[in-house]
Amino acid sequence: MLDKVKDLHVEIDQYNITSPEQLEQFRMRFISRKGVITELFEQLKSVPQADRRAVGQELNGLKNLAQERFDSFSQLIEEQQTTANSAPPVDLTLPTIPNLTGTQHPLSLVRQRIIQIFERIGFNVADGPEIESDWYNFGALNFPDNHPARDMQDTFFVEKATNGETSSDMLLRTHTSNVQIRLMERQKPPIRSIMPGRVYRNETISARAHCMFHQVEGIYIDRNVGFKDLKDTLYHFVKEMFEPGTQIRFRPSYFPFTEPSAEIDISCQICGGKGCNICKHSGWVEIAGSGMVDPQVIANCGIDPEEYTGFAFGMGIERITQLKYVVNDLRLYTENDVRFLRQFEGL
Ligand code: DAH
Repeated sequence: MLDKVKDLHVEIDQYNITSPEQLEQFRMRFISRKGVITELFEQLKSVPQADRRAVGQELNGLKNLAQERFDSFSQLIEEQQTTANSAPPVDLTLPTIPNLTGTQHPLSLVRQRIIQIFERIGFNVADGPEIESDWYNFGALNFPDNHPARDMQDTFFVEKATNGETSSDMLLRTHTSNVQIRLMERQKPPIRSIMPGRVYRNETISARAHCMFHQVEGIYIDRNVGFKDLKDTLYHFVKEMFEPGTQIRFRPSYFPFTEPSAEIDISCQICGGKGCNICKHSGWVEIAGSGMVDPQVIANCGIDPEEYTGFAFGMGIERITQLKYVVNDLRLYTENDVRFLRQFEGL
């Protein structure tokens, strides 16, 4: 027994601890109730009476030694830990990496604002396909078969192969008016929706034209919807969207799917109507096409035009954004130059 105590003495003396894990190993071996020293105390009973006192004293000495060593090692480890924590491996005086949060794209900001304005007066938001058939994009909207808009120079046709035969009945929609037709086909009036989305035209990309841009279509079909409702609705929109004092005018126009038709101009936001490059020195800029939905179009969708009437309009989101934020080159919207995009931060 005494030999064992001596061996453990030596072991404790030589023990070196440099980590919390080693400290725990030490505790388990020498301090804990399941450790070797407790075990030896239990064996004390079987030591002959004569030696018991001396052995007990030795054992107590061993126990105290273990406790002392444990305490000083604990302190050492604790100090190590706090100095490790208070001396981080980074140099806090270095300049920080700027925290680049993203921003919303200006077209998204304007689309959301348009939706918000119309939702407040009872319009919901509808969606339709960008790859569309000739019927939904043109036919149902009263475009005659030989209408120039169908021309390959304006429209991207998509070849569809069925059973080895290709047909060019499919196209990338040239406007969002296709969704009007799809809505009227599947929904009974009242219908009061706006339909934002992408449209495509075969144009050479320049500051003023792009092969892909965005429109918002609007439609309201119910009993007794008249031209005054169209005017009220768009007056309200212009008042909400643009600067106070903005003038609005309806200019007679023509679309195959509306009768009568009107183009909507507002006083130029850039020059205030005095005349500048943006408004081509006229003081006015066109923001939308509109009109009363042609009875034939309503009938094409299976709704009785004797019972229901309505208006529709379509506007370009890029154009509205250009006027609101003075963006004079359409290409900026798709180039993803952060110097452009970051100007809209926080709007
Ligand atoms: N679809 C037309 C265009 O792209 C715009 C338009 C005009 C939409 C009149 C309409 C409308 O709903 O009634 O030029």
